[in-house]
Amino acid sequence: MDIVEVIDPADGQLDAWHDLVSAALRHDHPGEPEPDPAQTVGWLLGGPRGRLWAVPQGDGFGAVAALRLPGTPATRAGEIEIHVRPGLRRRGLGTALLREAAAALRAEGRRTAIAQALAGTPAVPFLEGNGFRCVLTTRGMVLPLAAAEPAGLAALNPPGYRLVRWTGPVPDRLAVAYAYAKRAMADHTDGRGSAWNADKVRETGEAVAKRGDDLYTVAALYGPQMAGFTEIVVPGDAPERAFQYDTAVVPEHRGRRLGIWLKAVMLTWLRDERPEVLEIETDNADDNAHMLAVNRELGFQPQREYREYEAAVADLP
Ligand SMILES: CC(C)(COP(=O)(O)OP(=O)(O)OC[C@H]1O[C@@H](n2cnc3c(N)ncnc32)[C@H](O)[C@@H]1OP(=O)(O)O)[C@@H](O)C(=O)NCCC(=O)NCCS
Repeated sequence: MDIVEVIDPADGQLDAWHDLVSAALRHDHPGEPEPDPAQTVGWLLGGPRGRLWAVPQGDGFGAVAALRLPGTPATRAGEIEIHVRPGLRRRGLGTALLREAAAALRAEGRRTAIAQALAGTPAVPFLEGNGFRCVLTTRGMVLPLAAAEPAGLAALNPPGYRLVRWTGPVPDRLAVAYAYAKRAMADHTDGRGSAWNADKVRETGEAVAKRGDDLYTVAALYGPQMAGFTEIVVPGDAPERAFQYDTAVVPEHRGRRLGIWLKAVMLTWLRDERPEVLEIETDNADDNAHMLAVNRELGFQPQREYREYEAAVADLP
């Protein structure tokens, strides 16, 4: 089977791509909500520049590969995502597509590649046999809201702290304090959090609204300072499953149960405001023992494990 590069994908090619990704997901991840076609298209056409390849099969695709090329070759890794139709696996198609992506990375002078896999799926032996090593494991957890009992924790109100909450982009009067609190996330995001400022927090909120999703934020103020916050996004087209975004408590306010208080307040708010939300999904790095414990106490149940992989481009096939 031949590999073709897909440039400026037409509508039919976007549909074929979505069809293949959905078939792979159904096979490897039964029971999970399927991605929305608009999500697949947004992912393919939005974001950083990249390259796409496909193995045509009939009117559709038998396998596809996307390579994203964010930032500059000197500073950022290339991101690889490959999907092979379940009935066409173990015939070398995945490896052939990886070879294409590796050649493009070499041509650009990139030194590192990253990829993601769900634990227990064929992606793990595929990546590990092709030069990748696991650099981070995150645990996906889901909270069925009907089973949650957040009222007691929501009443904690640690002394000296005051709640604020808003929907959509942060109000102007809180933007500077919110950006400061966002920088506390740097602990868990290998320093990337340090780039937050008032403009960027506003833009991030606007981007969620532009996609048609609703962003809910609950924060704790200590005097004029924001001591911590938690964010949930409810998708506009599938509100049944909401997603936990960032939660952070700035270092000097830790150890006072602020994190669990804010999350419990958020749950009671969502229940009142958005009864159509049935569950909340969250991901936490396996080394973030504190947040995992908070989520367990709130009733989140472990679902699956994601692995992030990294490879030196020199080690790829
Ligand atoms: C991971 C995936 C792309 C592999 O595609 P593929 O076409 O089956 O891969 P290949 O035939 O090139 O396999 C290469 C090697 O990977 C390893 N491998 C792949 N699937 C495996 C499996 N199910 N069990 C054990 N080893 C496996 C083997 O060493 C294999 O070589 P072999 O067949 O000679 O033993 C495919 O399973 C898939 O689409 N998964 C879902 C999408 C996904 O998770 N992608 C993330 C990776 S970017």
